[in-house]
Amino acid sequence: MRDKKKLITVAIDSPAAAGAGTQAKYIAREYNLLYLDTGKIYRLIGKIKLSQKEKFNYSFIKKKVKKINLKNLNDESLVSDEVARSASIVAKDKKIRKIIKNFQLNCAYNPPKKFSGSVLDGRDITSVIMKDAMFKFYITASLKERARRRHLEFKKLKKTVSYKDVIKSLRKRDFLDKNRKFSPLKKTKDSILINTSKLSKKACFIKIKRIMDKKLKINGNI
Ligand code: C5P
Repeated sequence: MRDKKKLITVAIDSPAAAGAGTQAKYIAREYNLLYLDTGKIYRLIGKIKLSQKEKFNYSFIKKKVKKINLKNLNDESLVSDEVARSASIVAKDKKIRKIIKNFQLNCAYNPPKKFSGSVLDGRDITSVIMKDAMFKFYITASLKERARRRHLEFKKLKKTVSYKDVIKSLRKRDFLDKNRKFSPLKKTKDSILINTSKLSKKACFIKIKRIMDKKLKINGNI
């Protein structure tokens, strides 16, 4: 493990389609951090549940998680709404969350040497996975705005889903993620709230960068 104190660690939680991924990517690029979109791991398992039903058990999932590399998480088949819904269902399972935890901790606190630290986004990053992160953000936006953005993304990918269905699906996923028993999505007291509803991607990043630079200068990281 690398010296935790020297790493720049950023934890982000957010409901679906609030713009956390975009901001995490900007942060990673700006500060040379490893980026892990933890939702992709749940999506991968959600996809296994849909396509390899007969093999879906804990030891099979364990094996799959061991084989994960950051490149195979970029698979376009993980983007669909069906996979997202399945991800939300498997994410309720305490044992599955435990299987994934070590992979996430390793990315968070032991990133390859070429990186100055890590940025992880998901639903339980500030509350469970990186409780002691140097920076903790809760990124959100109104349901309507999130649905508008997700609908646009689907359109660009030539996926035919109506705006109405997108809003319905996001509302359902919000409910599942916020009300589940284990690791529900919530804003921790020590997380900084960023509402992206009326902010452009750039304006939002400027806000985040200002917060980060201030602390990093005091700490002597930059
Ligand atoms: O972020 P994304 O929409 O890709 O996440 C898909 C689903 O995976 C979420 O709706 C949530 O149920 C689950 N998830 C989770 N914990 C995380 C990341 C994602 O439960 N850290």
